[in-house]
Parts: sequence; C-alpha cells; structure tokens
Amino acid sequence: TITGVHGRRVWDSRGRPTVEVEVTLCERVVGRAIAPAGASTGSGEAVDLRDAGEAFGGLDVRRAIGNVNGPIAQTLVGMNAGDLPAVDAAMIALDGTPDKSRLGGNALVATSMAALQARASAVGLPVWKLLAGSRRVRIPLPEIQIFGGGAHAERRVDVQDFMVMCPGAASFAEALDWTAEIYRAAGGLMRKAGKLQGVADEGGYWPVFASNEEALDTLVLAIEAAGFKPGGDVAISLDVAASEFGEAGVYALALDDRKLDTGQLIDMLGSWLLAYPIASVEDPVAEDDTEGFRAFTERFGQRCQIIGDDFLVTDAERVRRAARDCSANAVLIKPNQAGTVTETHAALLAGREAGFGTIVSARSGETEDTTIAHLAVGWDAGQFKVGSFSRSERMAKWNEMLRIEECMGRDAVFAGWSALPFRES
Ligand code: PGA
Ligand code: ZN
Repeated sequence: TITGVHGRRVWDSRGRPTVEVEVTLCERVVGRAIAPAGASTGSGEAVDLRDAGEAFGGLDVRRAIGNVNGPIAQTLVGMNAGDLPAVDAAMIALDGTPDKSRLGGNALVATSMAALQARASAVGLPVWKLLAGSRRVRIPLPEIQIFGGGAHAERRVDVQDFMVMCPGAASFAEALDWTAEIYRAAGGLMRKAGKLQGVADEGGYWPVFASNEEALDTLVLAIEAAGFKPGGDVAISLDVAASEFGEAGVYALALDDRKLDTGQLIDMLGSWLLAYPIASVEDPVAEDDTEGFRAFTERFGQRCQIIGDDFLVTDAERVRRAARDCSANAVLIKPNQAGTVTETHAALLAGREAGFGTIVSARSGETEDTTIAHLAVGWDAGQFKVGSFSRSERMAKWNEMLRIEECMGRDAVFAGWSALPFRES
C-alpha cells in the first residue's frame, strides 16, 4: 500500500530544474525516480509543465512538484503499488487532459516510475526482473552517439545524432568496449584536425564540421581506426530529427542556403544510405510529414530501420496507424513522451505487435536515474538509446546495463542483429 508520495526539485544534466518523486510503501520501502526532459520534443508529447516567470529562464517546476505533493499524493495514498496500471489510470483521470497539461507529464512520469521502483524494492527484485517475470528477455543492442548535432549543438550540423550500433558484438559489454574505442578514435581524429571543441548535450563531440557528410566521413574513419569494418559488425545510426528544421514539407538546412522539399530531403538521405553503412534512421522527415515517412519507408524499409520519435511520441494509437500506413518500421520509446509507465508499455507492445523495432530511449536532459535501463531489459525492447559515451547521466545507464547483464550470468542473451526490423544482408 502506498503510504506517501513526495516530490522535490532536483537538477538535470543541462543544469535545469526537474521533478524527483519518492513513493513510500507501508512507511518503510521507498522507490525514487526523476523526470527527464527533451530539447527536440515532438508536438504530440505529454506536456512538460514549467512555471514560466523569472526564475531559471522560466523552466522552474514548482507547480509540477506542488501537483505531486498535493492532488497526486492525495489520490495515490492508500492504493496498491502492485497494480501500476491502476495507479497510472488514477493519475490520468485526475489530470483529465489529453496531453497531461494540468498536472504535468513530468509530475506523472516521475511518480509512475517511482511507484514501479517502490514495488520492485518491496518484492526484493530488480525492476527488470519484476517486469520480465518468467519470460526470457534479451539484453538490448545499444545505439551510442559519437557526434551530437541539431538542437543539441546549436544547429552546428543538421543531423542531431551520429551514432554507432555494434550488432556483431557478442554481448552488451563487448558492444561498449567497441564503442569506447570508436569514441576515442573519433576524438583523436578531431584533435588532429584541430576540431576538438568539447561535447554536445548528450556527450557526443561538438560537430565542428562543414557538412553532414564530413561528420559521416569522420565517423567511418573512426570506426576503421578502432579496427572495425564499417557495415560489418559495426553500423551507423542517424537521428535526423527533421522536425527541428522542417515543417509543411519545406526543410531549411543549416549549412547551406538551400531549402529542400520532402522529395529532395529523401533523395539526400537516400544518397547517404548508398554511400555509408547506415542501418537505422530516426525521424528522416518532420513529424507532420506522414507522406514523407511513408515514401521513405517504402523506398528503404527493407534494408534500414526507420524510427518514429517526434512522429510517434510513444503513443500506441499512432504506432498502430504507422503500421497500417507503412510509414515507419520502428518506434522510439520514451516514458516522458507518454507520461506514465503503463502508456509507455502500451506503445512498446503496439510496436512489437506490428513487427517494429522498439528502442527504449533517454532524453537530452537526463539525470542519474537508471529506470529506463530496466524497462529496456524487462520489456525485452531489443534496443537502448541513451546518448553518447561520456557524461555520467549517460554512463549511469550504460553501467546499469552492464550490472544487469552480469547479474543474468549465463542466461544473458545479447539482442544484436535480432533487434533490428530488417534482415542482416
Ligand atoms: P530530445 O532528443 O530528448 O532532445 O528530444 C532525443 C531524440 O530526439 O531522440
Ligand atoms: Zn529523436
């Protein structure tokens, strides 16, 4: 039984206020979780409630915390934390809006994850094990950022994430070993070129490049310098996050004065797919460009993972629609886009039902909270995206996954290629 719900203000990886919640069961077991925050958010996401006003650029979360300590606590105290769907449903009903704008998606998601954490402590299980039950679950394939661009690096290049995936690795631990060498090699190449200038919001190197293609070329060189064959055991993954530079079918690139229409953007991305070993592309066109998603998926969906993030916003109904329209073949799963753990799970299940790739993901504003590592394993998502290979809000998640893999021992199965929604060629 929930005996207490307490919200407090803590700080995220960008130095912005965020919501931490502790849920107490039977006056002694405590579960804790912290809400993350995006920068390149989809317009269909649960609302991240901010106070506006003078303090901290208007980003304070006093109202969201007041909602946790007031109405949310009043509603949840006395409920059974073992029934998370009921807890989440009670918060959804209390909020009463379609976008969780009254109580705040940040208030709800931190409370929902804290209730899950509390339940796991109460039964003495790690969260992943509580969620998995007796099912066999895989350790996910990580997507790890090497360069950060787009809204996370002042639009220095258009593409937001230049990432690597190591599906040829034998384990999660080995995938991290390989990525560590690639990340190091990329830093070395940038230093040699006089282009090493710190890191972007998710810890990838700040992209001092003249073009998106120069970033791709450098990434290929880094993979080779680390001793791997690009496109063999190591593949490239991009998050174009096109909603950040396009709407209504017009795309304004940062690095030249050209404006592209949807067809031209798809042709440009298609030329990259030919020239570089790219196995996954997220948000290739803007969230409002369903026809563009459909055209891109029709052309490349047999050989490439095509992920909807801003496009699908962790919403089960949108995932089902995308499956019907063939406008993606994978879905990014971010708990704070949905607002509760239960709705997040529903979106993941809708993706699995459709044969989609499912990728549990962090946000660009993160904290030491590692709940999502447990969701990725316990729900058998197959893939896990947390940003780069530096900054402890990122490393906390990778390190937690190492612990989970070790704890599984000989039962641990690394998802590798099996996580991707197309066949290895
Ligand atoms: P965000 O970026 O957290 O700033 O939205 C992550 C992503 O686009 O995948
Ligand atoms: Zn994205």
